[in-house]
Amino acid sequence: MSKTERCHWMLDEVKSAGRENLDADHASEYDVKEDAGVMEELALMKRLGLNRQSEVVDIGAGTGQFTLAVASVCARVVAVDVSPVMLDVLKAKVSASHLPNVEIVQSGFLTYEHQGKQADFVYSRYALHHLPDFWKALALQRLRHIVRIGGVLRLWDVVYNFDPSEAEDRLDAWCATLSDNPKNGWTRADLEEHIRDEHSTFAWLLEPMIERSGFHIENVGYSRDGIFARYVARAI
Ligand SMILES: C[S@@+](CC[C@H](N)C(=O)[O-])C[C@H]1O[C@@H](n2cnc3c(N)ncnc32)[C@H](O)[C@@H]1O
Repeated sequence: MSKTERCHWMLDEVKSAGRENLDADHASEYDVKEDAGVMEELALMKRLGLNRQSEVVDIGAGTGQFTLAVASVCARVVAVDVSPVMLDVLKAKVSASHLPNVEIVQSGFLTYEHQGKQADFVYSRYALHHLPDFWKALALQRLRHIVRIGGVLRLWDVVYNFDPSEAEDRLDAWCATLSDNPKNGWTRADLEEHIRDEHSTFAWLLEPMIERSGFHIENVGYSRDGIFARYVARAI
């Protein structure tokens, strides 16, 4: 048990994992609803140096779309997630695909203890926003210890790239992009729940946290609506 796990003030990462991520029905439908864009992500990671010798940690891996894609081109991938039901889906896929180099660990940003040599890449998509900002800063510092100097953090999340004065207009416009019909996948209510109950933050708050943790942000791409950001950060 790590020191932080013994602390009574420690955040419960399972409770903060997001209602839907603990719901077995949601987990079983996740891959139909969400395309994690793994082929493009893999191409980027290869441009950044990913190869057959690379070791990767995918944190907040969920059903492991990225985990499975990267496993076929690297030496080792550790998929970390707090949600047992998301990991059940991933476990079934790993056992069906007979990939020998995938390890699955039920743990979180604040508790995962990396075994073996430091990773070359840490990957995280749509997961860090489950932590409030104070905990994001601690999580990023922990990620920095997982990855070797010169290694890469690829972070893709809902990150608000606008001024607080624009929040109402920007967020209303985002919610209006989806319908109320669950047959179409994600709904307007899902976005409202995200804004209300989860912890996406402003880019101008997150970026100093990334840099302060010992990463240099080499590249950032913001979506035009100011809702999503994708970072490539190098461990220094
Ligand atoms: C929206 S899913 C994203 C899954 C996957 N990364 C993808 O891009 O498809 C968010 C995942 O983050 C996980 N998660 C939430 N809080 C976490 C934490 N503190 N540590 C690790 N994983 C967490 C959830 O259980 C869920 O599987």
